[in-house]
Amino acid sequence: MTKLSVNINKIATIRNARGGNVPNVLNAAINCQVFGADGITVHPRPDQRHIRYSDVLEIKPIIKTEFNIEGYPSAEFIALVLSVKPHQVTLVPDAHDAITSNAGWDTGRYRAFLTEIVGEFRKNGIRTSLFVGTSATDIENAALSGTDRIELYTEPYASSFSTDAPSAVAPFVRAAELARSLGLGINAGHDLNLDNLRFLHENIPFIDEVSIGHALISDALYLGLENTIQLYKRQLSR
Ligand code: PXP
Repeated sequence: MTKLSVNINKIATIRNARGGNVPNVLNAAINCQVFGADGITVHPRPDQRHIRYSDVLEIKPIIKTEFNIEGYPSAEFIALVLSVKPHQVTLVPDAHDAITSNAGWDTGRYRAFLTEIVGEFRKNGIRTSLFVGTSATDIENAALSGTDRIELYTEPYASSFSTDAPSAVAPFVRAAELARSLGLGINAGHDLNLDNLRFLHENIPFIDEVSIGHALISDALYLGLENTIQLYKRQLSR
């Protein structure tokens, strides 16, 4: 079964636009789970422009499913994750000023750095995932870091899906099969939506988890959050 983790950063973005507490991020996390999400993802960025560090602390106790915290492993981020102890941490090579994640790790270049951080999280009972592209070298070096999982950066799949879906998915199938052969779990995320999710799932049915934010929260404006989560879940059913 491929789990759906809902990234609730966009809810915080709307809240932050007015400075109050509407919409309520904590209630959104509770409701996403009630509506069928298999997990909640948050991505606190250094400037806290979406999810704030204080949100992460408040959300942890209401998680009944799986909590995934993703972000660049700065000293502050590492300290936050170690204090919250989520089920999973996803390490992302975000530049400080990136609008959104726009690449996976160069796991060869950063192998020593990642190995040390992965080891620290795993020692504390936190599952680790490294955000990577489809290059075989990056996946092999990810495996050598000791990480439990990788998260495939699916933007290149999403952007080519409408012109040539089989060619768009092919490198992801190869990457996922390599990762599986190396004993890694596989997550996927970025720009997944109601058009492209089913095809990805049909081609790589052994993905452990997809993490989806932007399109899902945008769809919820028209379809409602409960209905939207159910529609995404349906794309992941066989
Ligand atoms: N995975 C990672 C590592 C991300 O940084 C993001 C965006 O915050 C996502 C998944 C979700 O991407 P999207 O918002 O396009 O669904």
